[in-house]
Amino acid sequence: MQRRKFIRQTLTTASSIALVQPKALDYLEKELSQFERTGNLEELARDERFWLPVQRMFRPSPHFINLENGYFSPMPLETQQAWINNIEEINRLHTFYMRRRQFSEREGIRSLLAEFAGVSPDEIALVRNTTEALDNLIMGLPLQKGDEFIISDQDYPNMVEAVHMRAKREGIVVKTVSLPLHPKTDEEILQTYQQAITKRTKAMLVTHVINLTGQVLPVRQLCELGKQRQIEVIVDGAHAFGQLHFKIPDLNCDYYGTSLHKWLCAPLGSGMLYIRKEKIANIWPLFGDVSTGEHNIRKFERNGTQPCSNHLAIADALRFHHLIGGQLKEARLRYLCHYWAEKAATMPHLTLNMPLEKQRSCALGNVAAKGMTPTQLADFLYDKHKIFTVAIDTPAVKGVRITPHLYTTIADLDKLVAALKSLA
Ligand SMILES: Cc1ncc(COP(=O)(O)O)c(C=O)c1O
Repeated sequence: MQRRKFIRQTLTTASSIALVQPKALDYLEKELSQFERTGNLEELARDERFWLPVQRMFRPSPHFINLENGYFSPMPLETQQAWINNIEEINRLHTFYMRRRQFSEREGIRSLLAEFAGVSPDEIALVRNTTEALDNLIMGLPLQKGDEFIISDQDYPNMVEAVHMRAKREGIVVKTVSLPLHPKTDEEILQTYQQAITKRTKAMLVTHVINLTGQVLPVRQLCELGKQRQIEVIVDGAHAFGQLHFKIPDLNCDYYGTSLHKWLCAPLGSGMLYIRKEKIANIWPLFGDVSTGEHNIRKFERNGTQPCSNHLAIADALRFHHLIGGQLKEARLRYLCHYWAEKAATMPHLTLNMPLEKQRSCALGNVAAKGMTPTQLADFLYDKHKIFTVAIDTPAVKGVRITPHLYTTIADLDKLVAALKSLA
């Protein structure tokens, strides 16, 4: 009942913004309503009849198989249409929209997103991407010369560079831990960070889902470790939000940044910054602002004139997400990833650079072929089989990242498996 109420509420907000009410999701809702949701979710995740209408919501290029959905997500057609409608409406109303409607509609989106994330609207800033969200935190945390900041060798380069910039500018000390590719227990990961903590450690960056391998880290335990040791823990949730089914309070974190153009399938240029209410005043915003109030989360949104059409379409992206259901979406993405990865794991000429345990992996995976560089393998897959992936060649991880999406078919994955097998 709660879920239905929320979907109806999302729908109302979405359609009040869109100029023309799109229809594709009505079709999807009708198709999906024929399936019983009370049984085993894992079974529904494998039922191709259920996923066919979902696949129809996307129009990937017919010229190649795209298994590089980690960069960003295509919008489902209806979100795309709503976004185009928003652009038209804003262009038509012009400055009237900006002066009379912009802020109230932004608040509507903030409320929807906050409800989805399980937090207060006063804890959510609408930003452009994870980089903007986390740079506000990394650059805005009060630190002094000699304070230590722990990062890992598999954190995202934008964040790593921001931390190093503070080291260069203010003399903070960066400590980089090396994450295991195949941890056996959560304790093993906790120990990795724990061993780097000293009396001078003031901050830690923790990535929820590693972009190189898809590994899911035990974020809640890491945040609790930070709390026990009075260390501020910044969580990079670029890949987790909309891929994994959770609410922010489940993580017990104080700071979380994500890109909504990844797994929530919102337009490019939409992101979210969460800061626990009592911590907001602690952080300096990246863009100058002293008028909003230091306790107001909106102080992080002062980055000039905005393409509001992006954020408005978050309502439509949420409606799509809720029609499928977060838990089922996560189960399907994990099924697609494990479908190819479990077959690859049996081939002696391949090495999986990813854990396969359910709690440690979901949509993204990484594989290497013996005797080939990551670029050679990615080129082989594209040049010979028209399968598009991305080569990952970092000191910590060498392989090709494979990322299916909701529109990926089992036939596509069978082609990938056959291509990998042909390398034997
Ligand atoms: C783990 C991680 N963090 C941060 C980012 C940056 O996201 P954006 O480019 O949307 O700011 C990415 C992008 O892929 C990522 O994978």
